[in-house]
Amino acid sequence: MKLMFLGAPGAGKGTQAEVVSERYNIPAISTGALLREAMANGTELGMKAKSYIDGGALVPDDVVIGIIKERLVADDCKNGFILDGFPRTVAQAKALDEMDIKMDGVVSIEVEDDAIIRRLGGRRLCGKCGSSYHVDYKPTAVAGVCDKCGGELITRADDKPEVIKSRLDVYHEQTEPLKDFYAAKGVLKPVIGQEKIEDTTALTIAAIESIRG
Ligand code: AP5
Ligand code: MG
Repeated sequence: MKLMFLGAPGAGKGTQAEVVSERYNIPAISTGALLREAMANGTELGMKAKSYIDGGALVPDDVVIGIIKERLVADDCKNGFILDGFPRTVAQAKALDEMDIKMDGVVSIEVEDDAIIRRLGGRRLCGKCGSSYHVDYKPTAVAGVCDKCGGELITRADDKPEVIKSRLDVYHEQTEPLKDFYAAKGVLKPVIGQEKIEDTTALTIAAIESIRG
């Protein structure tokens, strides 16, 4: 099964992709996470991406298309995958078409901008394993310490209020048109993001089960 999660920054793509990945045993591929890994490793790609990401802009299409092409040929993608945060422009979506990759379902998680701002302000990540938490909605057992690996929690550099605003603008201008693009292909599954993470998960699973038939 080939799935895609669309949605504004902080809509819950990564949170839901993690659950869906475990349930259906397919990898969740986040271009944002791959770029942050490259940044942490100080690679040429990471250095190129940093200024775009820190400012809330999109990394150029050719760069992210290259990353995705490389990732999707890996063995673990044979039985399907979840794309989280790719494509983000019509040009990226067309590149997937050119690769002959047909999505079975595109789940669009809908959340209002003011809720997004609250969510991203409270998000924390494990600096070691990358697990994602929230100070109110998904707290760790011990404050500041990852439940999974004991690593220290950090705040993402692009979760500053002024950068969140730019990311939302970019989403509305460049990524939201993809909803029409995939609706026209008959694969769009809108999911209204709920206050509680598990309630959004239930709606997401129901949408995916409707695709599986
Ligand atoms: P990326 O890492 O993809 O960031 P994003 O799209 O801005 O989305 P986020 O990861 O911030 O949010 P999410 O939807 O995954 O939400 P999450 O589950 O964490 O990209 C970062 C940057 O990389 C981009 O800005 C761009 O520069 C670059 N980039 C990446 N892909 C690119 C591409 N294809 N082309 C060009 N550039 C690209 O949830 C957020 C928080 O809310 C969490 O703390 C969570 O616990 C909490 N939460 C989740 N669900 C709920 C709920 N239902 N109720 C309450 N809290 C919730
Ligand atoms: Mg994410």
